[in-house]
Amino acid sequence: MAKLNENFSKLKKNYLFVEISKRIKAYSESHPEEAKRLIRMGIGDVTRPLAPAVVDAMKKAADEMGVKETFRGYDDLGVGYDFLRNAISDYYKSFGAEVSADEIRVSDGAKSDCGNIVDIFGAGNTVLVTDPAYPVYVDSNIMNGNEVIFADSTEENGFAAMPDSNIKADLIYLCSPNNPTGSVYNKAQLKEWVDYALANNAVIIYDAAYEAFITEADIPRSIYCVEGAKKCAIEICSLSKTAGFTGTRCGYTVVPNELIQKDIAGNDVKLADIWQRRQGSKFNGVSYPVQRAAEAVFSPEGQKQCRENIAYYQENARVIAATCDKLGIKYTGGVNSPYIWLKCPNGMGSWDFFDKLLTEIQVVGTPGAGFGKNGDGWFRLTAFGTHEATKEAMERLENLLK
Ligand code: MLT
Repeated sequence: MAKLNENFSKLKKNYLFVEISKRIKAYSESHPEEAKRLIRMGIGDVTRPLAPAVVDAMKKAADEMGVKETFRGYDDLGVGYDFLRNAISDYYKSFGAEVSADEIRVSDGAKSDCGNIVDIFGAGNTVLVTDPAYPVYVDSNIMNGNEVIFADSTEENGFAAMPDSNIKADLIYLCSPNNPTGSVYNKAQLKEWVDYALANNAVIIYDAAYEAFITEADIPRSIYCVEGAKKCAIEICSLSKTAGFTGTRCGYTVVPNELIQKDIAGNDVKLADIWQRRQGSKFNGVSYPVQRAAEAVFSPEGQKQCRENIAYYQENARVIAATCDKLGIKYTGGVNSPYIWLKCPNGMGSWDFFDKLLTEIQVVGTPGAGFGKNGDGWFRLTAFGTHEATKEAMERLENLLK
């Protein structure tokens, strides 16, 4: 008989966004008329089409694949073509971070890398995750049998948990701009985390998937803007939100050459080497047309067009924030993030508020409790919808709560 990975029994029954989809489906089946009015502001999925420069590059690459002379098979090492890794390295330079092309590994997205990176760490680590957090960090550690402890991100600390010198973590997950709260770490705060990691020989896994939404000039776009970070941090990023690649799939992970830990025998091990080893056995790279499309994101034209899409979502964030202001609802996010993290009115629990919005005004958001215990009583709305739907949803919310 095959023995199963019993750790799966320790997980919540469904992944958060699957749970939400199931609830929407059940509601839609029992209320088909009302369901026609549904406005989805739950999962952070984009609605703007890909930038024209990106589509052109993808089409051109697809054509190349149909011609004997330009056809490509496997992407050699599966780490990404040089043209894309160089473009990403230049992108890092544009906001003051030094990352060489050989430290970058292209993947099918940040979610996979956030989950897969757990493979390179052994059993018995103390894994520290800020709470609330993107559920992938906790789920993937539970699947591998790791114990997770939490650093509280609360209203009191501006949803920006800071290191506690009494706790000795080995692995630390940070996300800035934060999913779900939209809060950001400034340079001094990130430096505290870097200093803590260096002092404890810990590794930070830094999720920068929302960096393109940063509007405040003094907020770092990468942890590598902070001195010492290349000795202790892995950074994971994605084009899903930067360039609307949620359905196209492309991301990248930076494992710096300076990031070295000791193995059990006391030998130095470059984490980049074992990540490469893991990917070599389990991943065959991203398709050539998608890598060409990704390269186009970083071209001047691609950047201009992607920034226009981001500005479109930022306008939605402004509309959501303005509605919360009008209703006297407390919130964070929206300024450096596509997410508005709001306090449920009248002390409601976040799943109760979810049900209320779904059944009374047919607006779907994400219950904060799905991101951890500190999320209960909070609720996340995404700015990734259309202007029309966002405005309509906010009018309904205003009528419901005023
Ligand atoms: C979210 O809504 O939190 C994200 O879109 C989910 C994801 O990126 O996997």
